[in-house]
Amino acid sequence: MIKITTSSPEETKNIGYRLGKLLKGGEIICMNGDLGAGKTTLTQSIAEGLEVNDYVTSPTFTIVNEYEGRHKLYHFDVYRIGEIDEMYDLGYEEYFYSDGVTIIEWSSMIEEILPKERLNIEIRKGYSSDNRELIINSFGERYDEIIKELKS
Ligand SMILES: Nc1ncnc2c1ncn2[C@@H]1O[C@H](COP(=O)(O)OP(=O)(O)OP(=O)(O)O)[C@@H](O)[C@H]1O
Ligand SMILES: [Mg+2]
Repeated sequence: MIKITTSSPEETKNIGYRLGKLLKGGEIICMNGDLGAGKTTLTQSIAEGLEVNDYVTSPTFTIVNEYEGRHKLYHFDVYRIGEIDEMYDLGYEEYFYSDGVTIIEWSSMIEEILPKERLNIEIRKGYSSDNRELIINSFGERYDEIIKELKS
């Protein structure tokens, strides 16, 4: 586990960029935290670390957006999901168990289908409007390794 406090969007982006650069493809990154905590901001910077050139925005009319980069990036936002069947209907396994990188905003809403091995990032709002606490937990060896690298 690693806990990082940031005091500006740029600092959070710096973490995301470093994380993005560490990714080798096939990772699952789960994000949770209040509305406006910074999940999309963090996702955008992970995308930069993955050399995605397109501007990453939260999927609004779809559940998942796909981007080309050093690895494919699948950006899910499951906030508006009604029932888990919607995930089966879009064939989520093709994304989760691929060589691409999967990021899921509001992953706790689909807990039952999340792979056991993954990186969990919780973002908490801090005492001032630009303060955030990132709590990153790893499940599985490759994710332990990522945390080790982030700490160094
Ligand atoms: N330290 C910080 N880290 C990240 N974002 C910050 C920070 N301080 C302020 N912000 C601002 O907080 C907002 C985060 O919005 P963002 O869309 O990334 O949140 P979100 O978690 O994706 O929200 P939603 O649940 O609506 O999808 C941005 O406007 C960003 O500029
Ligand atoms: Mg968002």
